[in-house]
Amino acid sequence: MSDGFKLVVLASGTGSNLQAILDRLHLREGIEVVGVGSDKRGAPAIERSRAARIPVGIFPREDFGDRGERDAAMAEWIEERGADLIVLAGYMQLLSAAFVERFRNRIVNIHPALLPAFPGLDAIGQALAAGANVTGVSVHFVDEGVDTGPVIAQREIEIPADRDRAALELAIHATEHQLYPEAIRMIAAGKVRIDADDPRQVVIDE
Ligand code: GRF
Repeated sequence: MSDGFKLVVLASGTGSNLQAILDRLHLREGIEVVGVGSDKRGAPAIERSRAARIPVGIFPREDFGDRGERDAAMAEWIEERGADLIVLAGYMQLLSAAFVERFRNRIVNIHPALLPAFPGLDAIGQALAAGANVTGVSVHFVDEGVDTGPVIAQREIEIPADRDRAALELAIHATEHQLYPEAIRMIAAGKVRIDADDPRQVVIDE
């Protein structure tokens, strides 16, 4: 599928979003996952990739002089794979500014809150601690900040009255597994662009 839309997914952990992308998008509608990159040799996401026969690249921080060197090696590998879009799916490393610049508006992330609310680590815990009644899921382009890039798609989720964290996590993950493939499908179809007059705004062409 050489002329399809190629994804490289970066994941550090469980990889349930990677699995949703493999199940819902890979080798469908001209979309192909051409590689999975990780900073963690033992990540369950790696096993999922191997099971789906997707090439894996491992870039642990300690194998490189600094973050910039690691990101440069990872960028080379991503370009060799011919990626059109880099999909962060629980990738727990900050990306260097040079990496973000090299792939400007070609890196997306999913975050378990309604950005700009609750960026950074433990967004679900932040929402509960803040006493919010509603939270959600955001898909956004990645810029140099932490969860600060232009928002592509969001979905709200009500926080249960009993504030049960496990139930909320389940609801958030189920929503992520739908919203991320939907957003990536729109990008692959060329329907998502940055507003030329306001680079903070994403325009969706229906
Ligand atoms: C997800 O909740 C995602 O929103 C956040 O990291 C988590 C990754 O989970 N960025 P998984 O590894 O995809 O299961």
